[in-house]
Amino acid sequence: MSRETFIHILPLHRLLLPLLFVLISVSGVIGDEEKKFYIAFLGDHPVNADSTLELHVNLLSSVKESPLDAAESMVYSYSKSFNAFAAKLSQDEANQLSGMDEVLAVIPNQYHKLHTTKSWDFLGLPQTAKRRLKTESDMIVALFDTGITPHADSFKDEGFGRPPSKWKGTCGRFANFSGCNNKIIGARYFKLDGTPDPQDILSPVDVDGHGTHTSSTLAGNLVKNASLFGIAQGTARGAVPSARVAMYKVCWVSFGCSDMDILAAFDAAIKDGVDIISISIGGISPNYTSDSIAVGAFHAMSKGILTVASGGNDGPNLGSVSNHAPWILTAAASGIDRDFRSTVRLGNGIKNISGIGVSAFNPKQELYPLVNGADAARNSESKDFARFCMQDSLDPAKVKGKLVYCKLGTGGTDSIVRGIGGVGLIVESDEFLDAAEIFMAPGTVVNGITGGLIENYIHSTRSPSAVIYRTQETRRAPAPFVASFSSRGPSPGTQRLLKPDIVAPGVNILAAYTPIKSITGLKGDTQYSKFTIMSGTSMSCPHTAGVAAYVKSFHPNWSPAAIKSAILTTATPMSRRVNKDSEFAFGAGQVSPTRAVNPGLVYDMDELAYIQFLCHEGYKDSTLVVLVGSKSINCSTLLPGRGYDALNYPTMQFSLENSQEPTTGVFRRTVTNVGPAISIYNATINAPRGVEITVRPTSLSFSRVLQKRSFTVIVKAKPMPILQMVSGSLVWGSSRHIVRSPIVVYRPDAEGS
Ligand SMILES: *[C@@H]1O[C@H](CO)[C@@H](O)[C@H](O)[C@H]1NC(C)=O
Ligand SMILES: *[C@@H]1O[C@H](CO)[C@@H](O)[C@H](O)[C@H]1NC(C)=O
Ligand SMILES: *[C@@H]1O[C@H](CO)[C@@H](O)[C@H](O)[C@H]1NC(C)=O
Ligand SMILES: *[C@@H]1O[C@H](CO)[C@@H](O)[C@H](O)[C@H]1NC(C)=O
Ligand SMILES: *[C@@H]1O[C@H](CO)[C@@H](O)[C@H](O)[C@H]1NC(C)=O
Ligand SMILES: *[C@@H]1O[C@H](CO)[C@@H](O)[C@H](O)[C@H]1NC(C)=O
Repeated sequence: MSRETFIHILPLHRLLLPLLFVLISVSGVIGDEEKKFYIAFLGDHPVNADSTLELHVNLLSSVKESPLDAAESMVYSYSKSFNAFAAKLSQDEANQLSGMDEVLAVIPNQYHKLHTTKSWDFLGLPQTAKRRLKTESDMIVALFDTGITPHADSFKDEGFGRPPSKWKGTCGRFANFSGCNNKIIGARYFKLDGTPDPQDILSPVDVDGHGTHTSSTLAGNLVKNASLFGIAQGTARGAVPSARVAMYKVCWVSFGCSDMDILAAFDAAIKDGVDIISISIGGISPNYTSDSIAVGAFHAMSKGILTVASGGNDGPNLGSVSNHAPWILTAAASGIDRDFRSTVRLGNGIKNISGIGVSAFNPKQELYPLVNGADAARNSESKDFARFCMQDSLDPAKVKGKLVYCKLGTGGTDSIVRGIGGVGLIVESDEFLDAAEIFMAPGTVVNGITGGLIENYIHSTRSPSAVIYRTQETRRAPAPFVASFSSRGPSPGTQRLLKPDIVAPGVNILAAYTPIKSITGLKGDTQYSKFTIMSGTSMSCPHTAGVAAYVKSFHPNWSPAAIKSAILTTATPMSRRVNKDSEFAFGAGQVSPTRAVNPGLVYDMDELAYIQFLCHEGYKDSTLVVLVGSKSINCSTLLPGRGYDALNYPTMQFSLENSQEPTTGVFRRTVTNVGPAISIYNATINAPRGVEITVRPTSLSFSRVLQKRSFTVIVKAKPMPILQMVSGSLVWGSSRHIVRSPIVVYRPDAEGS
């Protein structure tokens, strides 16, 4: 079972230097036996934290030598929202434990690598948008992340009253963290392995910057004249500036985010009374019962809390989407109409070149000597590495005072070039051109064709020279587009569900940052800023969670499924021409906050519906206990879910079998009227070539609010080549609303992906 969790952010140096990310094994060796952390799930029981701990220790004692030994190995007792404990066990002890009647499942704890402002105007949520300020200020948004910066302007509490009475969480004073205010109402951390992290602080304070950024995107106050050294200037604000923030720090600079800590955060946040949970951390385990985010999000959903999670930065590979459980709202990342470009002037003066990236430096000279890294190697052996400007490959004497041209190998080459006396660099890459990398020295990224021109120029003259000007903000068309890095469907978890669900901005997002770390975090960087630019589904996730909180501020009683449905059916469809993976890249489309508040109809679901779905997917009763506790689900006696996917999802995906004949899938859906009492909706079908789609009935009439109406969608598809995908849609339209569901037809390969 391999699952990796990343903070879903995308500076090139994180993305390209996985080796820098030291994965520290935290298994202690005691005697000859290696002990590791495990999480044991138990059945439901009356929730009483004190007696639960005792019960957990007693249970553990039966596989340990003594109660003392058991108490010492116990790491955490999850008792608030579900019944489980984490402990350090040998393989043998774990096996014994899972054989016990009271223990429903034992899963190993895994360590996972870490995976503005203008964006809200672009989405049609201007500062003047209609708001329900009272209910918005009662919204509590939870983030599981790297911590938060309490003194940031985005989290000042001027004008905020006391926390809403439903809040049951805590906030303390910790090292380098002076406590909460009426904006940040909760802040705690979980680091259950007990292993110190030399690069982090045992405190909710954000040493990394990621958590500060995501929190301010979701719920930051309005901050005027925010920018990164004057770049991307504007008013920074979150989706719900009046909402309260609860930070649960579960990600650590050197370790990443562990299952034990993520589950502890869920256990606490659910009990604390949060409204929405935003998780910009990913997992790739396709199994919903062994993935801590899927498991935790299920418990949250069953208590009425929607979890929004990042879909991952593993695009454009198909089948790369993560956090795809049906009860999670999975966010892909799009670019808006903004680009950050630097002009490069070559010494021959013929033509200026445009590169991508953020470089805040004004040149001090008219031109600088320019050298190709390949020509500045330390020796003949290092030549292959020097092309990529890798550590220790360049001769400082050949680089000093010069701009260096290199191919993209690893990230962080600006630090390397700078460290040996170079001025800056031009990086050639055909990948990752969507997102602007921030440089700690004059720098920019050019594509392969432009790179070729630069190489030719360097070889055409005895003393090549160039200059990189400070970055300018430029317009980009067409927008929005799905970022190349944004993970794609189809879902590795099931063939019957479209994922990702939705797209929100995740490219070049300006938001608050930590004062503790330099902008790039690279050696030698002395740039610090209260705001910075980041890219990744880590950024689209809080945008989406912010829209969910915005919708919930209008409809505090809506279920997680209803909020998700409202966001999906009102999304703006994206261009299939610009985004060639179409729905596998953008799901239902780009979030549209103001429309999502007033969707007309919703596809609602409760906890049981998801269980019916899992039974339909072939999950065994015995593994479902991780989700439902000891409510003893028996799939064979449970009312079977209806239709092809056994789910009342607002989108539809039909996967074709290997057949020479047309195949038919029948989807059964029920919509709830949340618009005007008396409404009539007519169906419009848009079927792709080779697919026949019919809906019965074709008209739905409602005479009261919350009335439900059911319908059937029949999809009949001709055989298709392997890995082909086509898509259409079903739109229910009334005189006031448009309720749109994409319908995807896909032919998986033999392995089912
Ligand atoms: C945390 O606080 C300690 C003690 O005041 C201080 O020495 C240290 O520099 C602080 N660390 C950071 C990263 O701010
Ligand atoms: C806005 O920010 C820029 C860059 O930080 C600064 O130079 C400028 O003085 C600020 N303007 C105002 C009106 O505060
Ligand atoms: C290149 O850019 C510089 C700085 O913007 C400008 O002064 C110069 O005229 C440009 N040269 C050409 C050939 O466009
Ligand atoms: C999911 O994981 C559990 C625990 O490892 C395993 O028992 C179960 O068979 C898996 N389910 C599926 C559908 O893969
Ligand atoms: C589930 O129900 C079926 C049919 O009633 C029964 O045969 C089976 O033993 C039950 N399974 C469990 C685990 O109770
Ligand atoms: C729905 O269809 C009926 C019957 O064709 C028609 O009278 C009505 O105007 C349609 N309503 C809408 C909103 O399109």
